[in-house]
Amino acid sequence: MAILVTGGTGYIGSHTVVDLLNNGYDVAIVDNLCNSKLEVLNRIYKITSKTPRFYQVDCTNEEAMREVFKKEKITDIIHFAGLKSVGESVKYPELYQFNNVGSSKILLKLMNEFDVKNLVFSSSATVYGIPDHVPLTEDDPVGGCTNPYGQTKLDIEFLLKDYAEQHKEANIAILRYFNPIGAHKSGLIGEDPQGIPNNLMPYVTQVAVHKLNHLNIWGDDYPTIDGTGVRDYIHVLDLASGHLAALRKLSEKPGLVIYNLGTGKGTSVLELVHAFEKANNITIPYVIGPRRDGDVAENYADVSKAEREMGWKAIFNVEDACRDSWNWQSHNPCGYDE
Ligand code: NAD
Ligand code: UFG
Repeated sequence: MAILVTGGTGYIGSHTVVDLLNNGYDVAIVDNLCNSKLEVLNRIYKITSKTPRFYQVDCTNEEAMREVFKKEKITDIIHFAGLKSVGESVKYPELYQFNNVGSSKILLKLMNEFDVKNLVFSSSATVYGIPDHVPLTEDDPVGGCTNPYGQTKLDIEFLLKDYAEQHKEANIAILRYFNPIGAHKSGLIGEDPQGIPNNLMPYVTQVAVHKLNHLNIWGDDYPTIDGTGVRDYIHVLDLASGHLAALRKLSEKPGLVIYNLGTGKGTSVLELVHAFEKANNITIPYVIGPRRDGDVAENYADVSKAEREMGWKAIFNVEDACRDSWNWQSHNPCGYDE
């Protein structure tokens, strides 16, 4: 009886796999390694003394995926696999549709074929588009995505809703992540972006490790506490435990459910930088630049539904995440490429 984790060697996937293995789940990973490294499996072993079964397979390859479904007795799927770079998606929208939406269609087809009932899907706060208020609840309108990546998440959400309508036995948890940061306490696994990071925390840690000169803060004239953008930063360990909570929820056969996974607390760019400096006793030089296209001023979650219905809430704060991100980066200055 296995949990199939697609994208399980990636950033959020690897932390979730560790949590699953530590809680006695039998895990099989499918990943094509387009944005992760095999070394992750060694690190997972170092943390858990267990090795998940691993298939280097592309989720858009239906035949290869079918072989995995034949070999494994899958009860539940957690579908992390996907491309996630906003900038790249603007350049290659068809690739994002093909990879993200295409792989999800194949997964649903195989779920039907092999009678797998339970699926957890990695969605994103990006489906809320440009919010006209915060905090965001799961009932707030979705749409108006500002980039093709976000559109793929929305398209997949609609696919899943249609599937759940047509397959009353299916149980599907759509998890809308806010901004994942942090790393495993061991410093053995963490976020390992290719090239210059787009996201704030990996950029900050690469400044701290002197790979980059200074942080560019994109705009200080937003109507926020200090003019910089506000986001809901959630520790990746909390995000991982959210997936275990979702699996438990699916075992109650709820049909399709949607949860925000965040902390419910907004933190500005400057607040995050200062928290990092304080937690690690490091100065982060920064320059204020223009606003970044497509950014919103403020975005944070109402997380009461996840607590009410799954008994889950985030337990780590931004300082914990700053400490753990730095622990990972300082021990792995070149990520997994030591
Ligand atoms: P990641 O890139 O670290 O992990 C994704 C993994 O999927 C990688 O290991 C990659 O090799 C694999 N993959 C991609 N396409 C594949 C395919 N066709 N077949 C097999 N494997 C494939 O990203 P992450 O940050 O761990 O994100 C995981 C999921 O969560 C993604 O779906 C992402 O869109 C979503 N998400 C991430 C964030 C974030 O800020 N990190 C926010 C919201 C949602
Ligand atoms: N920022 C900077 N400088 C940087 C990077 C980011 O000032 O070098 C600022 C941004 O302007 C924003 C904040 O830091 O105010 C957070 O930016 P991120 O790029 O880390 O995160 P976003 O909120 O823009 O986007 C993230 C994911 C998206 C996802 C979205 C959902 O990257 O994939 O959260 O909320 F869609």
